[in-house]
Amino acid sequence: MQKWNTTAVNHRANEILARMTLPEKVAQMVQVPFAYVSREEALDWAKRGAGSFLHVLGEDAREIQRLALGTRLGIPVLFGIDAIHGHGLNQSAAIFPSQLAAACSWNPAVLEEMGRVTAREVAADGLHWTFSPVLCLGRDARWGRINETFGEDPYLAGELGAAIIHGYQGEDLADGEHILACAKHYIGYGDAIGGRDSCDTEMTFRKLKETFLPPFRRAVEAGAATVMTAYGSIDGTPFTASERAMREILRGELGFTGFVVTDWDNVASLVQKQFVAKDIDEAALLAARAGNDMMMTTTAFYESAIRLVESGALDESVLDEAVGNILRVKIAMGLFKRPQDRGTPDCLGCAEHRLSALFAARESVTLLKNDGVLPLNETIRKIAVVGANADDIRAQYGDWTYFTHPHPSPKSTPARPYVTLLEGVRMLAQPHGIAVSFARGCGPLPDEVDDLEAAVAAAKEADVIVLAVGDVVEQAGEYRDRADLSLSGAQEALFERLLQLGKPIVTVLISTKPLCVTRVAEGSAALIAAFNGGMYGGQAVAEAIFGAVNPSGKLPISFPRHSGQIPVYYNSLPGWHGGRYVDLPETPLFTFGEGLSYTSFAYSALHVERETLRVSVTLTNTGARAGSETAQVYVRDLVSSILTPLKRLIAFQKIHLEAGESKQLVFQLQRDDFSLIRADEVRVVEPGEFMLFVGGSSKDVDLLTQVIALE
Ligand code: GLC
Repeated sequence: MQKWNTTAVNHRANEILARMTLPEKVAQMVQVPFAYVSREEALDWAKRGAGSFLHVLGEDAREIQRLALGTRLGIPVLFGIDAIHGHGLNQSAAIFPSQLAAACSWNPAVLEEMGRVTAREVAADGLHWTFSPVLCLGRDARWGRINETFGEDPYLAGELGAAIIHGYQGEDLADGEHILACAKHYIGYGDAIGGRDSCDTEMTFRKLKETFLPPFRRAVEAGAATVMTAYGSIDGTPFTASERAMREILRGELGFTGFVVTDWDNVASLVQKQFVAKDIDEAALLAARAGNDMMMTTTAFYESAIRLVESGALDESVLDEAVGNILRVKIAMGLFKRPQDRGTPDCLGCAEHRLSALFAARESVTLLKNDGVLPLNETIRKIAVVGANADDIRAQYGDWTYFTHPHPSPKSTPARPYVTLLEGVRMLAQPHGIAVSFARGCGPLPDEVDDLEAAVAAAKEADVIVLAVGDVVEQAGEYRDRADLSLSGAQEALFERLLQLGKPIVTVLISTKPLCVTRVAEGSAALIAAFNGGMYGGQAVAEAIFGAVNPSGKLPISFPRHSGQIPVYYNSLPGWHGGRYVDLPETPLFTFGEGLSYTSFAYSALHVERETLRVSVTLTNTGARAGSETAQVYVRDLVSSILTPLKRLIAFQKIHLEAGESKQLVFQLQRDDFSLIRADEVRVVEPGEFMLFVGGSSKDVDLLTQVIALE
């Protein structure tokens, strides 16, 4: 039973609904883009009783709320914002690692804390709702929005998504310290053909249920109050217009009872981009019938819906259902009692919140290669830090901060505090009297200030080179997909020049997504994936480089060797004749679940109880220093009526072990973990043999196996 589905809440909602006029009902379904309309128009919408605004901050939100409370029924406005790795659109906020970076932690507690802190800061800003988490899967790295995903696996995305939803919503939506979550983008948005943002996914509903629905099921179980409809389409039907996806599956099968908001102007896109409606009235009819309750930014929906009801084309009961969904959530979160000033003022960016951002960054640093150069030892007396991203906080933050939304502002002055990689290296080197030089060399985009000679000269003087490579927000995000994932600008050339010096290179990937760093990985002495590590991303990487932190990250997404190798996700289906391209190895450069440590771990004594599905394994820290390891459990259905993945993650746990310490890990599996979606779209467990894999990555070499038979 959700907090907004109680008898009392339903009664209150029906009471309000009964008093609403048709225009007031339709206004509740409109979400106004504050940053994209004139101030006068925005205030008019507040007086007309618009149900929601997005991208409004501080004093503007208070003024709009005052106007809304002054309307005939005084229904409070719901303010939504993209606070997706901290309340990043506000310069004072604690800015966390991106979802992709935080997913490297494989630590649900990190994501829950990220949600809790973000909620406190959003609430303190007078807002009520974040358009987060993204539950799309990152399976094609050409797509611009990989940084917003929890990576390629449905189970990991579901577990981390549920954790951050708990953080956002807490146990009491009405306590003023929590906000509404939004499971998005429903559904399969990341699988648009060719990684092309919002294009058709060419998938079937069986595939949707098998691969893309599980994270949304977990989100609904976790109590997500809202869901956002994806831009794209399934086999030619826009999700915005898919009654099957919205009513039959989301509400019917998953039992979702909150409200659905479309993505940006989805209703108008039915006319202007997908060409399935001849005009806005037809689009409004399709969207309302399909089950969208709130229309993001399509203010023209207001006139259309009134016309449609008055002409008899649309039954008013459809609107009553949508408005009821919205009102119940507003009532359950106590919006009528406390429409604003709900949170703890001045908590934005407080020390406690910033410490959480630092901890998240430390848990997310992922060591992918180390020939022994790390952690740096006392023989190192001089470090050359090279690469623009080593000292570019915009690149380190990635997407969805005050630099990028609601309007791109690359020239804005970065708000302290933050620590770039260069600043982190200097911070850790200083106490040891180690000299640190910096030479930009080049960045991800060609730039007239590129100076490879200066970088080579600085590197010549050093004992070790710390090289930052990656991308910048101009190369990623919405509308910015990328066909060639090799290192852009002069980065490859810079690497070759540095490699010729014969000095150890510690390469740090500061990027929004996996890039094809094949050559760099081969030549570097060590390689760290940091992605977009947030305000303390640079400090966390530096602490790993100096050994102050033992890295424990594991990849939530595979790295292609070449763009042409995509897709490379680990949980692929069998059947490829030859299993590889003639011009590339069959394996990705790095695969799902892998990540190294400064210590070593051994798995032994795997035991599976067939009757109880209880799996146990002994994990030992066989190295000389403490560390954390994420033990992973995969399953393979050895013979199935439909193709099933060669490996599929069904459980994991991250634990800390002292040097030499052993611990028995127990995983209590469920029968459902062995299920598949049959050709007739029914989820079943087919009797037969299953292989279980347990270990420290999805690579066979890292896994213990055992076959069990299920009836
Ligand atoms: C954007 C994105 C969506 C975001 C919304 C509001 O276009 O697709 O993820 O939450 O619009 O900014």
